[in-house]
Amino acid sequence: MSQTDFYLRRLHSLTGIVPIGFFLLEHIFTISRALAGPKEFDAATAFIQTLPMKAAMEIGFIALPLLFHGIYGLYAAFIAKNNVLTYSYFRNWTFYAQRITAYIAFAFIIWHVWLLRFGGSGLGQVTTFKAVSQVMADPIVLALHAIGLVATIFHFTNGLWTFLITWGVTVGPRSQQMSQYACWGLFALLNIAGLAALMRFAG
Ligand code: HEM
Repeated sequence: MSQTDFYLRRLHSLTGIVPIGFFLLEHIFTISRALAGPKEFDAATAFIQTLPMKAAMEIGFIALPLLFHGIYGLYAAFIAKNNVLTYSYFRNWTFYAQRITAYIAFAFIIWHVWLLRFGGSGLGQVTTFKAVSQVMADPIVLALHAIGLVATIFHFTNGLWTFLITWGVTVGPRSQQMSQYACWGLFALLNIAGLAALMRFAG
């Protein structure tokens, strides 16, 4: 591996957590406000609109890192060796699932952003509970969102587990086992919050 490849891989790994992973946590927290009620959700999205330099933050902290992570990730997934059929132990399956969920997340995020941020649903820039509910009233849109959400959360939480190894935080088998439990816990928590919010929008 050349030095450039090494740094690109490290940057790819880092962007998965900072800032994209943090954005995912914030995003799930915001949509979970729907569980408190339509008014609470609308207040949360209205608050985001008031943030200073919103457009610059969206481009610098979300769009560009996501584009880099997504495009370099597609390349990494393409050249990775999937040994799942030869050695089918648990970690090999999760390695494979990390790449499958990368493809799903890539397609899902493009569609989701087009639909709800760039007015693809025909409702303009949707940020109110009512408008999101109208979009989620379509059972196919709802089901595809549930699949995209679970896949993206798996990709993030399993990625967090490998990230901790990549950066030398969890070194021995015991710390890797403990962080495995923590990442599965986070996986469960984010799915409960995200899927419950989706169901709330669907009514
Ligand atoms: C847009 C589509 C995406 C693609 C194509 C993609 C691709 C990938 C690939 C192939 C890997 C494995 C890298 C390796 O082990 O060599 C990876 C790791 C990772 N991804 Fe993504 N990803 C995407 C979106 C996301 C999102 C939305 C998040 C966070 C919310 C994320 C977070 C992570 C994390 C934390 C890792 C682990 C980094 C590490 O092991 O050090 N990814 N991604």
